[in-house]
Amino acid sequence: MTTAEALGRATFREVEADLEVVRREVVADGVVALTLAAPDGAELPQWSPGAHIDLLLPDLVRQYSLCGDTRDRRHWRIGVLLDPQSRGGSRYIHEHLREGATVRIRGPRNHFPFVRARRYLFVAGGIGITPLLPMIAAAQAIGAEWELHYVGRSRASMGFLDELAPHAEQVTLIPRDERDRLDLDALLARPRTDTAVYCCGPERLLTAVEAGCRDRDGTTAHVERFSAKVTDEPAPDTAFEVDCQRSGVTVTVPAGTSIYSAVEAAGVDVLGSCMEGVCGTCECDVLEGVADHRDSVLSESERESGETIMICVSRARSERLVLDL
Ligand code: FES
Repeated sequence: MTTAEALGRATFREVEADLEVVRREVVADGVVALTLAAPDGAELPQWSPGAHIDLLLPDLVRQYSLCGDTRDRRHWRIGVLLDPQSRGGSRYIHEHLREGATVRIRGPRNHFPFVRARRYLFVAGGIGITPLLPMIAAAQAIGAEWELHYVGRSRASMGFLDELAPHAEQVTLIPRDERDRLDLDALLARPRTDTAVYCCGPERLLTAVEAGCRDRDGTTAHVERFSAKVTDEPAPDTAFEVDCQRSGVTVTVPAGTSIYSAVEAAGVDVLGSCMEGVCGTCECDVLEGVADHRDSVLSESERESGETIMICVSRARSERLVLDL
């Protein structure tokens, strides 16, 4: 996109802190919105549309997009769907994070940055609406053209509809029990110069949007995943060497072991969260060598630039990697 100006994967001041749930609202069937604040009312770090935070729950860490007002420095809001397949995260949040409860958080972090464009096409599936809400506000604020196509199981299951109501002309709701499915081919087939396409939702929707935008001039797909991307079978693992430049430690990473595990075992200080290549916590700079990217965070252009790597899942194509660790 020639006119798009990346607002960047802004480097925010990341914090780890206990925040209090100051408001809990049921915004749809199975969806709660939690507003978090510092117990002493202090300002929270700045964030930009697309940012997420980690919730450090007992024995697990989960990522949630910030979906409130970027200008409100004292409150962060997240939306949480009670996932019937929950491995404990959303169930814990729904059952225990009532008003007055505290929860440890880490962040904010942004791997889904809002770029400046003349037009925006937003596509949301279910709870994937959350990162798009502040993006819609930002698009509105800069006077850009935008439209949202929001797919859900039923109207009752689709959160934040009241916030979207003032923009009825730009918003197409697609509750699957009321109308036909989203015709993505028709939507993406329209000529769209200088359009940024943003999508968050189930993997099938993300894959379809990525595929639909590929090879369309002037259209760039930006997607966010909260579960690992389904990929072709990666090449078999081979051993390689990692040189941690700041620590002065060199380790061999054997087949079947992640860079993260190998360097951590050698005493290098590393930070991780999901261990599935989706949250971006373990990202570090590549100083030399070629990465074999296996994460679900970096965009195609970021992969090509080869500047960073997610060390929990990615490996090396070269025999040696020098990392800023
Ligand atoms: S720990 Fe989440 S991407 Fe590596």
